[in-house]
Amino acid sequence: MDALRQKYLEMVGAARDEGVLEDVRLAALGKKGEISLKMRELGQMAPEVRQAAGAALNALKDEIDTALRAKKAALGDAALDERLKSEWLDVTLPGRPRRQGTIHPVSQVTEEVTAIFADMGFAVAEGPQIESDWYNFDALNIAPEHPARQEHDTFFMARAEGDTRPPHVLRTHTSPVQIRAMQAQGAPIRVIAPGRVYRMDMDQTHTPMFHQVEGLAIDRDISMANLKWVLEEFCRSFFEVDTVELRFRASHFPFTEPSAEVDIRCSWEGGQLKIGEGDSWLEILGSGMVHPKVLAAGGIDPAEWQGFAFGMGIDRIAMLKYGIPDLRAFFESDLRWLRHYGFSALDMPTVAGGLSR
Ligand code: DAH
Repeated sequence: MDALRQKYLEMVGAARDEGVLEDVRLAALGKKGEISLKMRELGQMAPEVRQAAGAALNALKDEIDTALRAKKAALGDAALDERLKSEWLDVTLPGRPRRQGTIHPVSQVTEEVTAIFADMGFAVAEGPQIESDWYNFDALNIAPEHPARQEHDTFFMARAEGDTRPPHVLRTHTSPVQIRAMQAQGAPIRVIAPGRVYRMDMDQTHTPMFHQVEGLAIDRDISMANLKWVLEEFCRSFFEVDTVELRFRASHFPFTEPSAEVDIRCSWEGGQLKIGEGDSWLEILGSGMVHPKVLAAGGIDPAEWQGFAFGMGIDRIAMLKYGIPDLRAFFESDLRWLRHYGFSALDMPTVAGGLSR
């Protein structure tokens, strides 16, 4: 009995992995294991011998079984330790900058514009990019034969066979969102509507898809003076300069009366654009007092309400602010361009915390 105990406890102690340990278990306690066979011999023993031998054998069996289990647990722990060591990972390491995505200048500028107007009480409104002819043109006082329809270089959607209604269009501007917002919210209202617009045009400063932001403020006593203040305030914040000078140039849009195009004073000294000084002017947006017919199309009584509207090119002001020369590159998805002009994903533009860094 002592010899058996010593033999198997030594074997358990020497086992280096779980496979060897299992072999030891089978050799001792398996069906044909040495201790199991000894137990079977108990049957042929005289009863008085059998009682003592049986108890001793059972104790031995338990002892070896306990040693096997303890060793198995120890081997398992050691294996886990080994694995933890080899798979160890420093979760406090910084990310790899080359693998981080960046925020596209159009997204960044959209966020900046939204933050500035939100600060002045404007909410964000949205509309569909595939728009009906009525919302894109008629409701904005652009009659079917109006020359502005041609100037918009519109993309038309295909019509189902036999459908005689005017085809839907890819919206040529964000102005139709004015109508949708008025219909949905009524007056008074203060919204901006940033989004994609489409025109058949392509050169260094035009792409078939580009971005605009529409502005609309309607109340009982809104005037051009409010429009001027809001736009100046916007430009000061957006271009991050103390003084800006805007020039309101009389113009014509079917959906505003009177209408003005707005230029911003700038200089191009040494090929560097500076806003707020110099002798050059850059056109940045169209604006005016909302035409009574447009208010009516939006379900608002023009005898009671009035307001201003403006439309600005987001890509255009992104190019100006961040000195990006070619608009087409905005939409080519060239990673080198995106890394160069992109913004950190973790910097949210806010009026208080800074718009761009
Ligand atoms: N929708 C015009 C365009 O795309 C821009 C515009 C001009 C919008 C005057 C306005 C506005 O809201 O009042 O050319």
